[in-house]
Amino acid sequence: MTQKVALITGSSRGIGKATAIRLAKEGYDIVINYARSKKGALETAQEIEALGRQALVIKANVGDVEKIKKMFQEINEVYGRLDIFVNNAASGVQRPVMELEESHWDWTMNINSKALLFCAQEAAKLMEKNGGGKIVSISSLGAIRYLENYTAVGVSKAALEALTRYLAVELAEKSIIVNAVSGGAVDTEALKHFPNRDELLAEAKEKTPAGKMVEIEDMVNAVMFLLSDESNMIRGQTIIVDGGISLLV
Ligand SMILES: NC(=O)c1ccc[n+]([C@@H]2O[C@H](COP(=O)([O-])OP(=O)(O)OC[C@H]3O[C@@H](n4cnc5c(N)ncnc54)[C@H](OP(=O)(O)O)[C@@H]3O)[C@@H](O)[C@H]2O)c1
Repeated sequence: MTQKVALITGSSRGIGKATAIRLAKEGYDIVINYARSKKGALETAQEIEALGRQALVIKANVGDVEKIKKMFQEINEVYGRLDIFVNNAASGVQRPVMELEESHWDWTMNINSKALLFCAQEAAKLMEKNGGGKIVSISSLGAIRYLENYTAVGVSKAALEALTRYLAVELAEKSIIVNAVSGGAVDTEALKHFPNRDELLAEAKEKTPAGKMVEIEDMVNAVMFLLSDESNMIRGQTIIVDGGISLLV
């Protein structure tokens, strides 16, 4: 059996780290990507190696296309293949519409939307060498509904979801399956950057029809389903994992 390889961007912590560890448990060798959190990335690598799998740690700001190209060059040199790409890394400026500046917009769009296009191009080149692969991106409810201070990130996630549909069609001929998972609020470090964190958590705890907040593992379970062969006929979709909160007015 050939050893399969999965890249998870932003896997130094949170949902990305949990996905990397789950994929390692499923037998994949892992590429861990991060931008600033070297310690977190190395800890993820240690956990993966303890599971008996290989971990390649690559620092690359996915908002920068040159860094993306170097990252994939390294993956090609070390593993020579890629079977799974989880587009998880995200960042963004949380401001009301009237306070958003061009640099905030560019930063957010580059990391959350542009990265998917240019990573998917590079991933597709590696995947098609071995007959195909799977791409799953992580989105959020702000792509389809209003969230306070979330304009730049919400629009970047809407672009990511639209791009997921285009990639699903054009990469299908290379046997590459492309989808996304969108989540309600999950209590990770990402929420520390939300000016209204406490309010958001309280609302999610109180109002989610499922009676509890979405947890990291709920997101990972949906990602794993989209990476499994059971979902092969699902293409270009964004599955919402939010305990039903987006169904409320
Ligand atoms: N938490 C939520 O409520 C929630 C809800 C729905 C969807 N999501 C989505 O789930 C995904 C993961 O979120 P999370 O909550 O796990 O976030 P998190 O804990 O803040 O982790 C974000 C990860 O992305 C990496 N990252 C950030 N900017 C990067 C860049 N420019 N290049 C490469 N890596 C970068 C971070 O690494 P460094 O520290 O090294 O930069 C970190 O590993 C995101 O796409 C997010 O939008 C989150």
